[in-house]
Amino acid sequence: MDKKLSVLVSGTGSLLEAMIQQGLHIDSVFADRECRGIEIANAAGVHAVILDRKAYMRDETFRRRDFTQDLAGMLQCRGSKIVAMAGFMTILSPDIFAYYRDRLLNIHPSLLPDFKGEHAVRDALAAGVKVTGTTVHIATEELDEGPILAQEEVLVVDGDTVDTLWERIKVVERVLYPKTIRSFAASF
Ligand code: GRF
Repeated sequence: MDKKLSVLVSGTGSLLEAMIQQGLHIDSVFADRECRGIEIANAAGVHAVILDRKAYMRDETFRRRDFTQDLAGMLQCRGSKIVAMAGFMTILSPDIFAYYRDRLLNIHPSLLPDFKGEHAVRDALAAGVKVTGTTVHIATEELDEGPILAQEEVLVVDGDTVDTLWERIKVVERVLYPKTIRSFAASF
């Protein structure tokens, strides 16, 4: 992949791990906190930076614009052309689109537009749906909205908990996200 790719993480980084294992070339990884995702990047020799969101708290308010502008500056310094959020838990301010309009990707564990937000798997279970899944989309100013690049269904089974269902969704995501990023990068 000749377009420089950066990945944003906050958590276990299992999607990042899958991208690396599947040979996706990742230029850099940015995290908003200490997390396993950073350890995975370090172990793979990928440039990894923590931009600690706690450092952007002033009077109990998160300075979202400052955080976003600093992150955008770092991405620009790396020459990143595509940015893929993979379990990144900070909502960026719209300032990011001055740099990455149509170049910021997200993966969300539901069949969007259903079950937007942080608790997508829990909400799908609570709603009693028989089928949920995952969506890869281009991020826009609205949370979990934007043009859909790929979707795949996952069946809900009797006795599913948030953990069991989410893990089966992630099994699908670990194939779908790298594949979709690769074809997205090839498309422009
Ligand atoms: C994935 O389920 C993704 O859809 C959501 O965050 C999860 C990331 O998983 N946005 P991990 O941290 O890579 O294991």
